[in-house]
Amino acid sequence: MPAAPSPEPNEQAGPPSQILAAFEAAKGFMPLGEGLALYEAAVEAGRLGLPLLEVGTYCGRSTILLADAARAAGVTALTVDHHRGSEEQQPGWEYHDPETVDPEIGLMDTLPSFRRTLHRAGLEEHVVALVGRSPQIAALWGTPLGLVFIDGGHTDEHANADYEGWAPHVAPGGLLVIHDVFPEPEDEFTGQAPYRVYLRALGSGEFTEVSVTDSLRVLKRTEAGRGRRG
Ligand SMILES: C[S@@+](CC[C@H](N)C(=O)[O-])C[C@H]1O[C@@H](n2cnc3c(N)ncnc32)[C@H](O)[C@@H]1O
Repeated sequence: MPAAPSPEPNEQAGPPSQILAAFEAAKGFMPLGEGLALYEAAVEAGRLGLPLLEVGTYCGRSTILLADAARAAGVTALTVDHHRGSEEQQPGWEYHDPETVDPEIGLMDTLPSFRRTLHRAGLEEHVVALVGRSPQIAALWGTPLGLVFIDGGHTDEHANADYEGWAPHVAPGGLLVIHDVFPEPEDEFTGQAPYRVYLRALGSGEFTEVSVTDSLRVLKRTEAGRGRRG
């Protein structure tokens, strides 16, 4: 008897193998377990038929996962970054990678690496890259979003601005995903601002927790949060 046709890859628990391979080959700061949780959230949010937005592209590692979920759902993934790196990624700091520096101008520029990553993953047509400062882009934004993934700057100033700028655009039933949430000060690597933003989101009554995977938190907009901007 012929083998039964395989289900569509995205109906399975994780991303297709070639997407997983592209993710694992990409430069970046998203561990596999958290990446799989992000992918699951993106697949769920994709059912709303709205764009999925990331703050903090870097070299596109997590973008691959959002892009593949967006592809499967027939929506677009959006990713925001000024591509000049966060504080802790600058020369002399712990997370600096000299390969990300543009030798002509001596500043970080992760855009070329991001574009190579997406091209290699075959996902370019599913992603719109928004190059600029997150609060500046958010101030111009007017479209509801199925998912907002906050993985940008880790100072209180940046993390709060990302929350204030983008969370209001999460549609009813949509997901707010926050990375690098470390409740214990001794576990944190880049500061506890994402943890404080996570508490702020829960405290607002507009979001409820859906899942916890290491430092990745998935929240959903509650009924009480319905009808807000976005
Ligand atoms: C932790 S990295 C993102 C990691 C990425 N999601 C991954 O999977 O590897 C944070 C990124 O946020 C960007 N960033 C920091 N502050 C920003 C801001 N205010 N506006 C836009 N991008 C910002 C940095 O340039 C950096 O590329």
